[in-house]
Amino acid sequence: MTIPEFQQHKRDKKKLIVVTAYDALFTRIVEQAGIGAILVGDSLGVVVQGKSNTLSVTMDDMLYHTKLVAGAAQRALVIGDMPFMSYQASTEEAVRNAGRFLQAGAHAVKLEGGRIMADRVEAMVSVGIPVMGHLGMTPQSLHRYGGYKVQGKGKEQAKALLADAKALESGGAFAIVLEAIPVPLAKTITDTLSIPTIGIGAGPHCDGQVLVLYDLLGLFDDFVPKFVKPYAHLKADALQALRRYKEEVEQGKFPGDAESYH
Ligand code: KIV
Repeated sequence: MTIPEFQQHKRDKKKLIVVTAYDALFTRIVEQAGIGAILVGDSLGVVVQGKSNTLSVTMDDMLYHTKLVAGAAQRALVIGDMPFMSYQASTEEAVRNAGRFLQAGAHAVKLEGGRIMADRVEAMVSVGIPVMGHLGMTPQSLHRYGGYKVQGKGKEQAKALLADAKALESGGAFAIVLEAIPVPLAKTITDTLSIPTIGIGAGPHCDGQVLVLYDLLGLFDDFVPKFVKPYAHLKADALQALRRYKEEVEQGKFPGDAESYH
């Protein structure tokens, strides 16, 4: 999927489906499912690296996983997530790092933040790098919010988020992720912008939805955010398979005749 095709979905009122992926195997499965856009999210810090937040994820980590996904993707739009401190310090550094994502095979980058990031977005877009914005509960600002909390609840906060969304659109962002914000605010932003909004915990009125792949596959059962719906229970399946394998080896049932060379 190209950026213009992605944006055309909004005009055609066709929902956009985005999931995260971090490796070649799942990229192929995601594409087989007919999903057209893949975010190589810095959520990999949590779901792949086992950290409690995304703040320690580096450019090297992101470029490695972006190469795996972009190398396997045949049709999907691949969006690389800019990690903490790869774009905050200066516009020049932001543009250079964004460029490295495209060199690694991504078609676009995503960054967190609103009006304060509009100049970076504009600078990237002006040199040919498509940018997706990310507003609301932006995980890289976790400590400023004092935890993972719904954003944009009060009137002033809602006004500020709408202004952020307009600034990103004016800066040239091709789409915006809205994370953990009230449904009416997500609807207002979606109705106001001409670029697509992609919701995660932002209700049904967004132009599309994104979920972390391992959450939707049910690979975690210790902490599942309210906005996640597990469409499978792969952790339970994996546990069952591994326990059966262990048992069968212990009981001398595996390998059997079918798995042996004669
Ligand atoms: O890092 C990520 O996976 C994300 C999505 C949850 C939007 O930013």
